[in-house]
Amino acid sequence: MEKLRIGIVGSKFAAMLHAESYQRCPSAEMHAVAAIDNLDEFAEQYRIPKRYAGYREMFEKEDLDLISVCVPNYLHREVVVSAAEAGLKGIICEKPLATSMEDGREMVRVCRDRQVKLMYAEDWISAPALIRAREIIREGGIGDILYVKGKETHNGSHSVFAQQKKFCGGGAMIHLGIHPIGFLPWLTGQDIRQVMGMVTGGGDENLLHKHYTGEDWAAALLTFENGARGFVEGNYITCGGMDDRIEIYGTEGNIHVDLTKGSPLSVYSRPGFDYAVEKADFTHGWTQPAVDEFMSLGYVNEIARFVECVQQGNPPPEGTSGEDGLKALAVTFAIYESALSGQLVEVDKYL
Ligand SMILES: NC(=O)c1ccc[n+]([C@@H]2O[C@H](COP(=O)([O-])OP(=O)(O)OC[C@H]3O[C@@H](n4cnc5c(N)ncnc54)[C@H](O)[C@@H]3O)[C@@H](O)[C@H]2O)c1
Repeated sequence: MEKLRIGIVGSKFAAMLHAESYQRCPSAEMHAVAAIDNLDEFAEQYRIPKRYAGYREMFEKEDLDLISVCVPNYLHREVVVSAAEAGLKGIICEKPLATSMEDGREMVRVCRDRQVKLMYAEDWISAPALIRAREIIREGGIGDILYVKGKETHNGSHSVFAQQKKFCGGGAMIHLGIHPIGFLPWLTGQDIRQVMGMVTGGGDENLLHKHYTGEDWAAALLTFENGARGFVEGNYITCGGMDDRIEIYGTEGNIHVDLTKGSPLSVYSRPGFDYAVEKADFTHGWTQPAVDEFMSLGYVNEIARFVECVQQGNPPPEGTSGEDGLKALAVTFAIYESALSGQLVEVDKYL
């Protein structure tokens, strides 16, 4: 079978996660990249032959099968819609799907009408530890799920776009909490129906990052359609590296997953070394360096699955369709409404 020709829109952090994963996918070939900065460095690092300052020109001139959309959130809609209109077969869109429900709906509708596969890049769904957790649940290992908790937290975003609500649609919940929000329905087989949220107010009302216009701390209680309960959290006030944890409580047992700090390596270093885990600022003393974050956080499997689904003409893997991205967005905006009003909010009103 011929290799899929890949285009990447964006050239920084998320683009790097995708490029590292395409490199490990024998049936894909990175062919072109479009970005407004870091273009030559990125293209050279990943040996991508074609480079463009404008993504529309890339879609017009190159015969691409699949693209990765790795640009700031507010650009997801225009890049996805223009890729669909250019006739691409598959589009992978980074999380969150969009910065408004209107944009998200339009992306899903345009791709559906043009029969373009829109795939939502919730990487947790492809993380090996979480795939194994779901297998154990499906085998009845912990009975029926009663309560689930999920969080992603770290010390602040590297991206200036993620620090400004007008570019990203919110703060820590839409950027970090969206991982458990997107992942928990896939894990439990249940949609989130009702939310009760609390977030800091952005700017001076933030706990720490007063120059972020979105919230730097956010949490929400959830009710699933079968009555199971949940708790999700995202914050930018956590020192010591990214902290991604999931706890699952069933009638017959529990599962705890530590995605980022659960390394089998324990290192004591007096001089320090290059890199331990994402967003950790020190490598001195005792650390638990990640063995392979591209794999453990799900990116490698995710890209391989998306490539296979375009090659074989299959629907996106469970939990990763454009519609799934839209549902995650609806939960997020319901949480924001609840945080403002102090009331429980039904997610359905956003769908
Ligand atoms: N799944 C994950 O774990 C994960 C992690 C980080 C970021 N993300 C998501 O990936 C997306 C990008 O985030 P990032 O951290 O890489 O941001 P970033 O700020 O590091 O990079 C933004 C990129 O967008 C490019 N860009 C901006 N405007 C453009 C335009 N008009 N045309 C072409 N390129 C343009 C820039 O050149 C740059 O390469 C965001 O939606 C973010 O939420 C996902």
